[in-house]
Amino acid sequence: MRKLLVAGNWKLNGSQQLLKQWLLDFNDGFDFDKSNCDVALCVPNVYLPLLKQIKPSSMLCGSQDVSSHSQGAYTGEVSAEMLADVGADLVLVGHSERRAYHNESDAKIAAKFQQAIDHALIPVLCVGESHEQRESNQTFAVIEKQLKAVIEKLTPDLADRFLIAYEPVWAIGTGLTASAEQAQEVHQFIRSQLAINDVTMARQIRLLYGGSCNGENAHELFSMPDVDGGLIGGASLTATDFMTICHQANSLLKNER
Ligand code: PGA
Repeated sequence: MRKLLVAGNWKLNGSQQLLKQWLLDFNDGFDFDKSNCDVALCVPNVYLPLLKQIKPSSMLCGSQDVSSHSQGAYTGEVSAEMLADVGADLVLVGHSERRAYHNESDAKIAAKFQQAIDHALIPVLCVGESHEQRESNQTFAVIEKQLKAVIEKLTPDLADRFLIAYEPVWAIGTGLTASAEQAQEVHQFIRSQLAINDVTMARQIRLLYGGSCNGENAHELFSMPDVDGGLIGGASLTATDFMTICHQANSLLKNER
């Protein structure tokens, strides 16, 4: 069975005050003991120690990026070992905003993925096509290329140690959401690409959808057979909105088919 996972991505937002209040509000309305889904929150790195200290024990502590290097003269970088040291469980790699604004290549992203794996962090590899690429029928080709550099590194023992998030760039922060059918089509494609390497692994990997996912559309998206939860940007900044999405995920378990 694949348990759904809902991850918040605060991006460049937040403060200690917001984090404290957010967790109070979230704890008020979400009971991990009665819950059937995993929940993660990816905050700016400076807030990781506070998150680790005051979060419910079952919530996963997430970072939004990691260095492709392990140590050395790389000013401003934060290594996977450092993230693990302050309590991170999970890290986003290859988010489209990193690809676009920091020119991250597939090779660089694959190196970040490897760093995360090497230090027992769960990498969430983000992939997705732009509006132009979708319009010119390149969606599958773009995603195949983004996946390839990482898939080459996969071994069967990693099946439960990473996730993939499909985030169509045209849907991120725009209020446009992929329809459930569009999301399913791409998720199925991603699983089929993983299956070329290892069928068992492909069945086990959780594939998240991201891109204007909210309380209104989460249930329909998560009901799709290959959508195993969400990566939530804007709607994760308000605890109650995020909680609504977690509640939608709660009722769903996916059979590995
Ligand atoms: P959004 O962002 O939910 O605000 O569209 C998703 C993301 O970029 O992770």
